[in-house]
Amino acid sequence: MVPTGNEKRRFVRDKFASVASRYDLLNSLLSLKIDSYWRLITAKELKKRIKGPILDLCAGTLPLSSELAKRTKEMVIAVDFCYEMIRCGSLRLKGARPARRIAPVCGDGEGLPLKDAIFSGVTVAFGVRNLSQIDKGLKEMLRVLKPGGKLVMLEFSRPQGLFFSRIYNFYLHRLLPVLGSLISGDKEAYRYLADSIQTFYAPRDMADLMTRAGFININYRPLTFGIVTLYTGIKRSCNQKTD
Ligand SMILES: C[S@@+](CC[C@H](N)C(=O)[O-])C[C@H]1O[C@@H](n2cnc3c(N)ncnc32)[C@H](O)[C@@H]1O
Repeated sequence: MVPTGNEKRRFVRDKFASVASRYDLLNSLLSLKIDSYWRLITAKELKKRIKGPILDLCAGTLPLSSELAKRTKEMVIAVDFCYEMIRCGSLRLKGARPARRIAPVCGDGEGLPLKDAIFSGVTVAFGVRNLSQIDKGLKEMLRVLKPGGKLVMLEFSRPQGLFFSRIYNFYLHRLLPVLGSLISGDKEAYRYLADSIQTFYAPRDMADLMTRAGFININYRPLTFGIVTLYTGIKRSCNQKTD
């Protein structure tokens, strides 16, 4: 069961706080390191048209923020509402070169403590599924983007082919909670991960939400048999037509 509203907000913050120190290790082990490749694709997708500061929302332990800082020359503002996740990421990056262009901020993606229209790009990796009000989060992303700015979002989805989806479901619902709880000591966190992926929007519905929030030129494509989907959208600028 995935909680909703304020209960979800509290639950998500507590769960990430409880796994924060082992989050990076768990990600690498449970995804066989493919997660780094997905973030690389996300950073490359944003890099295509970026000139100006970037917001990495739901930044967690800063893995995508550091990929962005390595691949662009821009300042990266990394926002997450879980202090423990941001702290673990900042300690891990301390002294590393990309860290100089990352500014970690503890803040809520559904009410960003940031001015309108200041970012040329916004990224969110594995974060949007965790928001308690996705529509509110998307509107905030649009608000802080400059006209013409780009949103790149990476999120889990469900593979479609019968054969692969059976293997994937076995992994997600049987193996992952056991492995996750053995390494992190928190079985509930990995049950939540499986349930939140299972009940999350299909890519077409997620794209509809982006349209309703006000983004234009929305595209999405599956990566690694559809285990994850990469979404892109643009904030309309004056005189801009949709593709
Ligand atoms: C699965 S982690 C992803 C972290 C990182 N982006 C990555 O690629 O590994 C999801 C993050 O979203 C954060 N989060 C969830 N809801 C949030 C909200 N309303 N505002 C800010 N951060 C939020 C959590 O604290 C958590 O660190």
